[in-house]
Amino acid sequence: MKLAATLVACLSLTTVLAQTKPAVTPPTSKSAMVAVKSPGQTIYEQNCLSCHQANGSGVPGLNPPLRGVDWVTGDKTRLINVLLKGLQGQEIDGEPYDNVMPAHDFLTDQQLADVLTYIRSSFGNKAGEIKPEEIKALRK
Ligand code: HEC
Repeated sequence: MKLAATLVACLSLTTVLAQTKPAVTPPTSKSAMVAVKSPGQTIYEQNCLSCHQANGSGVPGLNPPLRGVDWVTGDKTRLINVLLKGLQGQEIDGEPYDNVMPAHDFLTDQQLADVLTYIRSSFGNKAGEIKPEEIKALRK
């Protein structure tokens, strides 16, 4: 099932956008234990993994890495805007990437905060969390 969701996300942006219902779990309660995935990881697996890969390595020439790049661990406004508006034609650390980063503004403020907090603290990255209010402030 996870694979199917990933394929859908990868194959067709229109399919993703056509899903009005966010394909994500409800907020977890405090009882969520360590063995349970963080909400951000689940959102990542459903929306980002197909392009950026499970370990954040990306795909050379197609999709940039999310590990060890300033775009992820640096300026929050620039990072949040990548998700809200999408990105194309940028060089990341001097490398061009042929794919287009689709806007993910169909995710809620909470979901975007969760997935960005996840990528900022995974793959060896060690940057601080992003709060839903920070997404909300840029979503116009
Ligand atoms: C269809 C493939 C695709 C999907 C799905 C996708 N991205 Fe991207 N992403 C890209 C591409 C391609 C770029 C670079 C765009 C460019 O060349 O300007 C990029 C750029 C980025 C960047 C800035 C550059 C960098 O390397 O850090 C971030 C951050 C990012 N994506 C995060 C995400 C997150 C988080 C998700 C899931 C919510 C996601 N992406 C989903 C393809 C994708």
